[in-house]
Amino acid sequence: MNTPEEIKLVVKSKYAEIAKSSSGSGCCGPTSCCMPDKNEYTVFQDDYSNLNGYVADADLGLGCGLPTEYAGIKKGDIVVDLGSGAGNDVFVARAIVGEEGKVIGVDMTGEMIDKANNNNLKLGYDNVEFKLGDIEKIPLQDNIADVVVSNCVLNLVPDKHKAFSEVYRILKPGAHFCVSDIVVHGEMTEELKRSAELYAGCISGALQQDEYLKIIENTEFKNIEIKKTKKIELSEELLSLNGEFLKGIFSITVVGYK
Ligand SMILES: C[S@@+](CC[C@H](N)C(=O)[O-])C[C@H]1O[C@@H](n2cnc3c(N)ncnc32)[C@H](O)[C@@H]1O
Repeated sequence: MNTPEEIKLVVKSKYAEIAKSSSGSGCCGPTSCCMPDKNEYTVFQDDYSNLNGYVADADLGLGCGLPTEYAGIKKGDIVVDLGSGAGNDVFVARAIVGEEGKVIGVDMTGEMIDKANNNNLKLGYDNVEFKLGDIEKIPLQDNIADVVVSNCVLNLVPDKHKAFSEVYRILKPGAHFCVSDIVVHGEMTEELKRSAELYAGCISGALQQDEYLKIIENTEFKNIEIKKTKKIELSEELLSLNGEFLKGIFSITVVGYK
């Protein structure tokens, strides 16, 4: 088994590759790039293009939900997007918070931050900021955010307890998060769990849905609610790696309050 640090290096190098190629055929994207040849899978991203604030150059096809749609973001809010990639959800959130608010994207991959900053330079927003940093140690002060969003990222973070504790720490009292993420129903085989490549592809780092929700509960979030569930269609080859154990992979969009 790879150590958490080794896993992060694999994740970082895969997303650096995607940022540089800007192909939009990403790990958590609509086509596969991170899979060993025979283990292809498909994740269908929701359509962002009709959302107010949508920026095509920021949409690398890496999301698995529309967290901003369920996040209850208001004009003037301070929003933090964890694992912000090229800024897809950040710019949608910016359209909602307007001039008076602020949106901060955090990502641990330098190449993604560069891409997001280039996108922002073209848009000229002075209330959008991208910070290089790890979700397990978010480079932001306590109680800063009205809303935390994240799209298809926390499955990639080795220590999910730490990730949700950090979300809790940066939220203002009474504030909330809205996260879209991958979860599984049923057991994954050891072969699948061990694959660092599949980890970077948002599959083998995904938790059981119950376990995922338990972590959120144990972090003391209240009024936890799944706003949307979407089944992810996997290839026959990937399913065959799992025998009868894995019942399905899902994208969920979940909210919780501090
Ligand atoms: C699947 S992509 C999603 C990007 C973006 N949310 C979107 O929907 O376009 C995952 C992103 O999370 C970042 N990431 C993964 N693990 C992270 C961590 N521990 N800390 C910060 N960023 C992380 C990756 O660098 C990558 O940009």
